[in-house]
Amino acid sequence: MALASLKTNSVTTPAANRFDLSEASLRTLTNAKWNQYGPDVLPAFVAEMDFAVADPIQDAVQAVVAKRDYGYPRRDGGKAGAAVANAFAHRMKERFDWEIDPALVVPVADLVQGTYAPVLAFTDPGDGIILQVPNYPPFRDVIRTTERNLISLPMLDDGTRHICNTEQIIDQIDARTRMFVLCNPHNPTGRVFSRQELLDIGQFCIEHDLIVLSDEIHSDLIYPGRKHIPFASLSPELAARTVTLNSPTKSFNIPGLRCAVLHFGTPELRERFGKRIPQRLLGDPNAIGVDATIAAWTQSQPWLDEVMAHLTATRDHVVKRLESELPEIRFRVPEGTYLAWLDCSALMLNTSAFDFFHDNARVAFSPGENFEPTCKAFVRFNFATSRVIVYQIIDRMVEAVRARKP
Ligand SMILES: Cc1ncc(COP(=O)(O)O)c(C=O)c1O
Repeated sequence: MALASLKTNSVTTPAANRFDLSEASLRTLTNAKWNQYGPDVLPAFVAEMDFAVADPIQDAVQAVVAKRDYGYPRRDGGKAGAAVANAFAHRMKERFDWEIDPALVVPVADLVQGTYAPVLAFTDPGDGIILQVPNYPPFRDVIRTTERNLISLPMLDDGTRHICNTEQIIDQIDARTRMFVLCNPHNPTGRVFSRQELLDIGQFCIEHDLIVLSDEIHSDLIYPGRKHIPFASLSPELAARTVTLNSPTKSFNIPGLRCAVLHFGTPELRERFGKRIPQRLLGDPNAIGVDATIAAWTQSQPWLDEVMAHLTATRDHVVKRLESELPEIRFRVPEGTYLAWLDCSALMLNTSAFDFFHDNARVAFSPGENFEPTCKAFVRFNFATSRVIVYQIIDRMVEAVRARKP
């Protein structure tokens, strides 16, 4: 089915088609995922989903385009950013029973920008910032390029899942350690931290007087049996030191539309931030991003429910096949996200795992070393694609592993 024939009503986009777009139609897109590697390579890297977006989002974008409505946006009789903040507050209450004040929400264009700004606001060059590793590569870049001191907190495999034990870094903490970057759900391992784990991290941050930057961009992508808990919802004491980052870009598949939010746990924290980062430096999200975000958060949950049903079945398929056909590859079942963190060290490859699968299977995963320099034997597998493409990716992996020279 050609993407061009996808219309905005559910008659022409039955659920099955939204999630089973053909490789040929996906290759007509101009996105990063389908345009970085050669035409024979199946991409399974950047965190985008190969699914047609929800109808309310498509309708919202089309309404702007149809009217050529490209002026500075106002929404609901006020600034467009305020409408985004209201939609976010409403969604947090509805999804997580987390009550927040929209006045403490600052819209931004993207979450890497949203990481830079609090790092610059709450820390100085040479200050220590704790980062769970492996982690989303731009976090490391933010710490490095702002000349802060990266304190790596390794995620440990306890035999069933990856855990984050702060005891490991206790000797590295000093008066200049100022911030903890928490990624929950965790990219790339797919962990969704439990209330107790979050409370333990919170206690550690209180003891060492750390600001918490809590990236929760994957919070809507949670598999049955797990629950996302916004870090700042744990207690007022923790909210007072927490900046939460969120965006619909991952869960509603609109990363090109550029709209995200920062939430400050108290007016004091917001004020401290504002003293170092002028509002105008952050800019405003564009009109289409604003409307798409509001449509995502307020009208598109039925679509996301369908996405989660598809992703759950896909995840279970990936787990079953990797366990039975590639037992040398170790991984833990993701509890959230559409990402699997694959440890290929038992394959004893003489190249990086990324190169091996790229060169021999014509599959492009995300290179493990981008998430942590020591992880060359790992790849991150983005399985948010059609069933046919997932089957092909695993077939190609199996073939490449079986054909490899010892
Ligand atoms: C954990 C995490 N944070 C932030 C981002 C950035 O998202 P965006 O570029 O949509 O703002 C990503 C993107 O993959 C991510 O995985």
